[in-house]
Amino acid sequence: MTDPSRGIQSTEPIVSNEMKSSLFWKKHFKRTRDGDSSITWEIGASLTDDERKAIVASVQEFQMGERSEGKNLMRFAIQHAISSGDTEYPKALRYFIYEENRHASDLQRFLEAIGEKTIRKSWINRIFSKTRRLAGLELSISILVTAEVVATVYYAALAAATDSILLKSLCRKILRDEDWHIQFQFQRLGLLRWNRSKVQNRFAKTLHGVLLFLTLIAIWPKHGRVFRRGGMGFRRLVSETFCELHVGFEWMDRNSYRKGSLHNSLPSTRDRCHLRPETRG
Ligand SMILES: [Fe+2]
Ligand SMILES: [Fe+2]
Repeated sequence: MTDPSRGIQSTEPIVSNEMKSSLFWKKHFKRTRDGDSSITWEIGASLTDDERKAIVASVQEFQMGERSEGKNLMRFAIQHAISSGDTEYPKALRYFIYEENRHASDLQRFLEAIGEKTIRKSWINRIFSKTRRLAGLELSISILVTAEVVATVYYAALAAATDSILLKSLCRKILRDEDWHIQFQFQRLGLLRWNRSKVQNRFAKTLHGVLLFLTLIAIWPKHGRVFRRGGMGFRRLVSETFCELHVGFEWMDRNSYRKGSLHNSLPSTRDRCHLRPETRG
């Protein structure tokens, strides 16, 4: 089987079951950029006072997180493209960043529709972006995808926390995108780690779990109300996010591709997560 970490050709799909090429991802994100947003803006936004108290500050912080320009990530990606020959990767990543920024503008539009503003400062976003600035591509993606895993569970909780049809449809749209983001980012981590030993990869996964747990502790004081309103205490948040993390690990793990367990299918851990899109309503 072709070793995808070597000489990735930008114009050919990678021949390893479902491991997708940068060209695939570029086309995918371009297609979603040009497609319909399927958000029912015309029905208007309305929140009860209770909902407003519980979710506005939280949505403002996630909106800020979604609007990152990803300058450092792009810089690392270009360096990686030069060394690996995968010249489509930065192009795919640029479309991906565009999609995240569209989440930001959709959330901004929602906030404006309910008479709220966006925010400029958030200490947690500052820590995330500063750490990513210092890191290389691998660490930068690891940090980013940790935020994606949390976001996946967050938007499901947010949809459950409100009766606003508009906000629910916005959350569902973002969730559909985030599922692809998780696959995109974890497969890149898999490529970057393709030639590492089992022990090294196990260690990296353990560190990733620690990073996720610390992130959950950090976000709980500000966002706990949304999760609780969405029917999720801290323990459930931990179990749902770790379930999503394990889905990501399957996308990342070269053995998944070697054994062919991902061939024409999805990660086997996927059904164990309760918040997969098909069950999110
Ligand atoms: Fe997003
Ligand atoms: Fe995302």
